[in-house]
Amino acid sequence: MTEAGSDDRVAKLTQRFLATRLHSVELCRPLANEDYVPQPIADVSPPKWHLGHTSWFFEAVVLSAHASSHRPFHPQFGFLFNSYYESQGERVMRHKRGDLSRPTVAEILSYREHVNRAIVELISNAPSSEAVALIELGIEHEQQHQELLLTDIKYILAVNPLQPAYLASSNATVDVDSEFAHQAATGQWLSSDGGLVQIGAEIDFSFDNERPRHRTWLEPFALRASLVTQREYLEFIDDGGYKNANLWLSEGWDWANQNNHAPLYWLYSDGQWQQYTLQGVKPVAVDAPITHINFFEAAAFCQWAGWRLPREAEWESLASRFTWGRRWEWTQSAYAPYPGFVPSGGVVAEYNGKFMVNQMVLRGASFATPAGHSRATYRNFFHPQLRWQYTGLRPAKDIA
Ligand SMILES: [Fe+2]
Repeated sequence: MTEAGSDDRVAKLTQRFLATRLHSVELCRPLANEDYVPQPIADVSPPKWHLGHTSWFFEAVVLSAHASSHRPFHPQFGFLFNSYYESQGERVMRHKRGDLSRPTVAEILSYREHVNRAIVELISNAPSSEAVALIELGIEHEQQHQELLLTDIKYILAVNPLQPAYLASSNATVDVDSEFAHQAATGQWLSSDGGLVQIGAEIDFSFDNERPRHRTWLEPFALRASLVTQREYLEFIDDGGYKNANLWLSEGWDWANQNNHAPLYWLYSDGQWQQYTLQGVKPVAVDAPITHINFFEAAAFCQWAGWRLPREAEWESLASRFTWGRRWEWTQSAYAPYPGFVPSGGVVAEYNGKFMVNQMVLRGASFATPAGHSRATYRNFFHPQLRWQYTGLRPAKDIA
């Protein structure tokens, strides 16, 4: 590449790629080798699998199509680390990822180095714009898995009867001190007249599910400037919120009758509520935003409080007016294609679109989201019963 500015672009993409790859390894640095393997529930993947899968993604999506001389690190790693791509053939079923005692952590790290060298070489050889776009997608994909790494590690350590801490205090990789940092509720509401608004992405990078930007109609509404706090949620618990069928959606009521009447990781012990955090078990921080609640719990809380969950278009249209990014915020919007949605082509056609059923949209970002991986148009999505992510809620209400 000799064109003016090209060297700079190569350097920036290489630097961003390697920094992202290193961050995944750094997130796992506090773990013992034994922590890399368990899969306590199907939704939680072993850290070792995340490290392998994010490498496989670059091989399957980028290198196979754009680096003809690349030799896969291992002929069976496609089978081990393909997540859900039907076009890429047979794979270890999701709930069997914890069975992978081998390859070892050291072998996975060698795999990562193999892929790193190949991508750096590709970037230095004047890749096509299509290849660059796929490398950028691979980086964003790895960042999504970095969030999952942290939340999955938390679950793996929390269900261990010894409940070991992930980190005793913050370091350069994870600011664990901010996991339950103070954020008292304010009574401030932000109102909107609604009307015709534009939502969706029209920026350099976005996932296909954020596109196209389009018009949608909103009736007058208001969103609260602050998230619901753990103190507010305690009031819901103390008021019998989990025992009042009138507050719950039918599926939610079934769920509530089969689970603990408290957010995930909460435990009532020695006369007080405690919760498992990345720093171990601590008393519930009442002024921190509530987290690890599912859609059913968020909806029941709103019903109890006389509010409702926001629609995703409401959230996006006001996002510049409130602080967000600490908790994924449940919305009442079902995860569905935007008008005119077209999935990305090739292997990544399966990235988002095929999951657009039976899931709810979350907006914002969370404590676990890597820096630079959030934007107001971002659409996260989970099944309504799930709560191992840093999920919370921002109240909404209709106004005249
Ligand atoms: Fe993935």
